[in-house]
Amino acid sequence: MHFSSIVAASLALASSTVAAPHSNKGKDKPTSLYKAFRESGRSYIGTAWTMRANETAEPKIIKQDFNSITPENAQKWESTEPSRNNFTFEDSDRYVEYAKKHSLQIRCHNLVWHSQLPAWVTDGKFDNHTLISIMENHIKNLAGRYRKDCTQWDVVNEALNEDGTYRESVWYTTIGEAYLPIAFKLAAKYSKAKLFYNDYNIESNNAKTAGAARIVKLIKSYGVRIDGVGYQAHLASETTPTSGGPLPSQKVLEAALHATADLGVDVAYTEIDIRMNTPATPAKLAVQAEAYKTVAKSCLAVKRCIGMTVWGISDKYSWIPGVFAGEGAALLFDEDYNKKPAYYGFLAGLKK
Ligand SMILES: *[C@@H]1O[C@H](CO)[C@@H](O)[C@H](O)[C@H]1NC(C)=O
Ligand SMILES: *[C@@H]1O[C@H](CO)[C@@H](O)[C@H](O)[C@H]1NC(C)=O
Ligand SMILES: *[C@@H]1O[C@H](CO)[C@@H](O)[C@H](O)[C@H]1NC(C)=O
Repeated sequence: MHFSSIVAASLALASSTVAAPHSNKGKDKPTSLYKAFRESGRSYIGTAWTMRANETAEPKIIKQDFNSITPENAQKWESTEPSRNNFTFEDSDRYVEYAKKHSLQIRCHNLVWHSQLPAWVTDGKFDNHTLISIMENHIKNLAGRYRKDCTQWDVVNEALNEDGTYRESVWYTTIGEAYLPIAFKLAAKYSKAKLFYNDYNIESNNAKTAGAARIVKLIKSYGVRIDGVGYQAHLASETTPTSGGPLPSQKVLEAALHATADLGVDVAYTEIDIRMNTPATPAKLAVQAEAYKTVAKSCLAVKRCIGMTVWGISDKYSWIPGVFAGEGAALLFDEDYNKKPAYYGFLAGLKK
């Protein structure tokens, strides 16, 4: 099927789920994801963002639908401290300034991670004491620069293996598990943001979810503050070669959120995309719309789920096809920035 007919079919499907049958007035009423979620008493709906000067549709969509942004790459270590104590903030500053100017929340992302970490850190053979001082210098300069600007920080990203044990990163092998409370303690020293642990594949209440709960307890056991756990939610609406199965049920998603929320922290979905085997068909897009609805409903059902962020606006720039060949179409807007059925499914799910 030609792509434009998919779009036409999905728009037809979408409007049938949304238009009030007896009112022409309601039909053209602009919808807004974040306003709907705020009416449900929650804080924000966000998107990851890479600024592209030629994509003029994106600022308009952000204004309409999102009240939070996450810089997709601009704040990662390789972008902000490419060589030791040489900080490059120009790119990151643009996002923080944009958020301030447009009164958006900003989930700052991220401080301590094993990936997109320059070789000078991973291969530096630093001893424990030196590596901690490198971590402190990074957090001091990056988090300190935006002390009052970031709404949230992903302090530590992806510390866990799939079985819930710690990943053998330079942080873990050099410092041990103490690197987690140390990073959070430093983040609390230099930032006013809510401090999050963030990971993927923890949405189905499995061994890795238990690992995330263990991390929350560990950090608290050091007398250090942790405010939230980010569930990345890189999910799939059907079984794909890389997904290991279909979407978890709403019940399972809720149980996974409760696994950490019940320890006294906030939870959030931080990087939502729901991929499928491509090409998309109207039937698959309808299944995906239900999947987005289920994810939104799971957040709304858990009191401490404060917000949700999707990992990009348009399928045009999603990371999925480049990394998982033959999979994609994972976001709320198609490659031409038209709302997909997924948009309306998500909207329906986040309304009380
Ligand atoms: C913007 O530029 C990128 C390449 O840098 C291109 O892929 C994209 O199609 C352009 N968008 C528009 C609207 O021209
Ligand atoms: C700092 O990093 C930038 C970006 O990689 C590089 O162009 C510059 O030469 C570096 N400066 C120093 C003093 O290392
Ligand atoms: C590294 O130093 C920190 C801070 O003193 C400590 O908590 C941690 O256990 C040390 N790690 C190792 C492997 O000695």
